[in-house]
Amino acid sequence: MSYRRSALTLLFVLLLPSSFALAQGAPAGIYVDAPERSTGGIGRFYMGREISGVMGYQAAQWLERPQRTHEEMPDDVVANLNLRPTDIVGDIGAGSGFFSFRMAKLVPQGKVLAVDIQPQMLAMIEERKAAEGVTNIEGILGDIDDTKLPAGSVDLVLLVDAYHEFSHPWEMMQSIVNGLKPGGRVVLLEYREEDATVPIRPLHKMSQEQVKKEMAVFDLNFVETLDFLPWQHMMIFSKP
Ligand SMILES: C[S@@+](CC[C@H](N)C(=O)[O-])C[C@H]1O[C@@H](n2cnc3c(N)ncnc32)[C@H](O)[C@@H]1O
Repeated sequence: MSYRRSALTLLFVLLLPSSFALAQGAPAGIYVDAPERSTGGIGRFYMGREISGVMGYQAAQWLERPQRTHEEMPDDVVANLNLRPTDIVGDIGAGSGFFSFRMAKLVPQGKVLAVDIQPQMLAMIEERKAAEGVTNIEGILGDIDDTKLPAGSVDLVLLVDAYHEFSHPWEMMQSIVNGLKPGGRVVLLEYREEDATVPIRPLHKMSQEQVKKEMAVFDLNFVETLDFLPWQHMMIFSKP
């Protein structure tokens, strides 16, 4: 074999593992389809949990309901994110932007990337941006399995009441971890499954144990759970 040919072969062998890793999808068998689905569910199970259906944009008014400010204390949530003015934040499953607009005020020299799969939700965000003169929120139309966050671009990802309805949670978390800068954080809020008094349908709730199990398969460390909210866990993870 010529020197040139053997050098090319060596290059190919060295590059193969990384390009192979990039092309890899979800591990085989990670999703299990049940013969029937529960009310509000999609009939697909991930790590023992049935995935919930997506909340349609027609119900966006529910996200903006006035009583949500005391039921979910959104201003306290964003205050506890400890954002820096220059931070780039991903609000994944942003909906009508209930959290995006609050975070945008705290990152005047940064921005919020508001990702959703429903263009109608993004249209609501654009309308409000124009009405309020907000310039540091960027809407991104994601795919069901891809946030479209640029690699290594965000300091923090916020997931409020959204993760449980991702039809492809494994791919979404891969995409989120890929989008985070080293040291970046994922903050996940879900209604407490452990608490029967939280008046939310079962598939829209998650236990801390289940969240930890699902995050443990990614390059993320559990940091802490903040338990000051009336209905939700606020769980924080960080990328090494
Ligand atoms: C219940 S809403 C919550 C919206 C917002 N986070 C809030 O708390 O007001 C969930 C949102 O997640 C979005 N969603 C569901 N699957 C998604 C995915 N794979 N990628 C991005 N957004 C998704 C839905 O379109 C919906 O707008």
